[in-house]
Amino acid sequence: MMPTAETTTLVIFGASGDLTHRKLVPALCSLNCKGRLPQDLNIVGVSRRPLSDDEFRASLYQGMQDGGEFVASPEQWGEFSRRIFYVAGDVGSAENLAPLQQRLAEVEGGPDVAANRLYYLALAPSLYEPAIRSLSQAKMVAEDGGWRRVVIEKPFGSDLTSAQKLNETVHSAFQEHQVFRIDHYLGKETVQNLMVFRFGNTIFEPIWNRNYIDHVQLTVAETVSVSERADYYDQAGVLRDMFQNHLLQLLTLVAMEPPAQFEADAMRNEKVKVLNAVRRISPEEAGCHTVHAQYNGYCDEEGVGDNSVTPTFAALRLYVDNWRWQGVPFYLRSGKALAEKATEIIIQFRRPPHMLFPIEEGKDIPANVLAICVQPDEGFHLEFQAKTPDAGLQMSPVDLEFHYQDAFDQAIPDSYERLLLDALNGDASLFIRSDEIEQSWGIIDPIIYGLASSDMPPPYEYEPGNWGPEQSNVFLGLDDRAWLRGCGEHKSGG
Ligand code: BG6
Repeated sequence: MMPTAETTTLVIFGASGDLTHRKLVPALCSLNCKGRLPQDLNIVGVSRRPLSDDEFRASLYQGMQDGGEFVASPEQWGEFSRRIFYVAGDVGSAENLAPLQQRLAEVEGGPDVAANRLYYLALAPSLYEPAIRSLSQAKMVAEDGGWRRVVIEKPFGSDLTSAQKLNETVHSAFQEHQVFRIDHYLGKETVQNLMVFRFGNTIFEPIWNRNYIDHVQLTVAETVSVSERADYYDQAGVLRDMFQNHLLQLLTLVAMEPPAQFEADAMRNEKVKVLNAVRRISPEEAGCHTVHAQYNGYCDEEGVGDNSVTPTFAALRLYVDNWRWQGVPFYLRSGKALAEKATEIIIQFRRPPHMLFPIEEGKDIPANVLAICVQPDEGFHLEFQAKTPDAGLQMSPVDLEFHYQDAFDQAIPDSYERLLLDALNGDASLFIRSDEIEQSWGIIDPIIYGLASSDMPPPYEYEPGNWGPEQSNVFLGLDDRAWLRGCGEHKSGG
């Protein structure tokens, strides 16, 4: 039995950072306003800067007003901020955690009072391992009377070797059920709804396979450039930043078999099977299955090397070698400085085997398209053919649409609300298990190495505000396909 105490403390390491101000605290405050936070939850922020509790609270409120997803009224904030405390500390060594231990004892009601603790590492990734070692050496991970859990932000490693090493360190202090590796895409409502859509209905699952689906497209497009995060981004590039995590997670949810229960390990076992079945692209083949590109002006961004060849856009063709998906390509693309911010999953069904009705000259037999719009304007669109009125047997594509905003009269919560609540409740279904992380790096690593090799031409260029380089269209064109848009106003995707 897992020990559970009455009091719970959320300890945020990296409390003065952007993530805490813009995401974590607004999400926690919003949960508090909805009455969803455990009654006896306290929040202790830790970072190096000396601050009083009040100064810390003021800085958090300012951060929320400057760019949080949720902004509380002064009354709501007053009610919530009573739970918040601060201590200056350095996670680099166990001795330096003494002030934190003392503060925790005060907040929790005494050094011998049992309390549950959720440690949130909102730190620079280079501090994950030192922080975990310090917590372990300071004996702050033992579950004596209350549970201990740790939330680790992405990036989890920068390649397979570093991810394995980080997993080893994590496992030297925590058991896997105590570890919550975040991918905030899994907290998005539409991403979770994909499970309900597939497994809570009977009409889609029978056709969700190679017999009916021609191919799948996953697009995560962003309009922003790398601007303030250039130091990190120039080392990472788009494949580490977006593909190893968010895009591969979306792929697993589209491709996985139904788990027997909606439970963390049952779900994650199925996701791992998909990742395991993804056909590996060797470094030598990387050029044939990928297009990589950099937006013009990237090298002029502050913090980017003058001759940087870091890709800011990539498109990838993957295959899932199993019974359900054999031969069905999954096209993945993502980039910065693109024409729109949009995350979409497109399922293009096969064309009818025989066409009875006239088709406009030069046009293909139409195929049904299901577009799952993850953001913005969350919803689903199913495109099918209808008879054009009073025009003989001419057909036109029409849409069956579901928009969250119209169907449910409530705002969509930020993904951190769901994920923080799940971590506090010990539900790891929407968090990444160690083997998922390692499988994902196993898929992406050889592609990154292949593209970075000296035999490979440098990334193509594209103008900011486009849909990536023209070669991305050529890439799909060579497979007789084209990028599709399902959710915006335009139906073809650059
Ligand atoms: C993060 C990446 O994980 O996801 C960022 O590091 C990216 O580069 C962000 O901008 C996108 O998230 P969202 O929720 O805005 O699509």
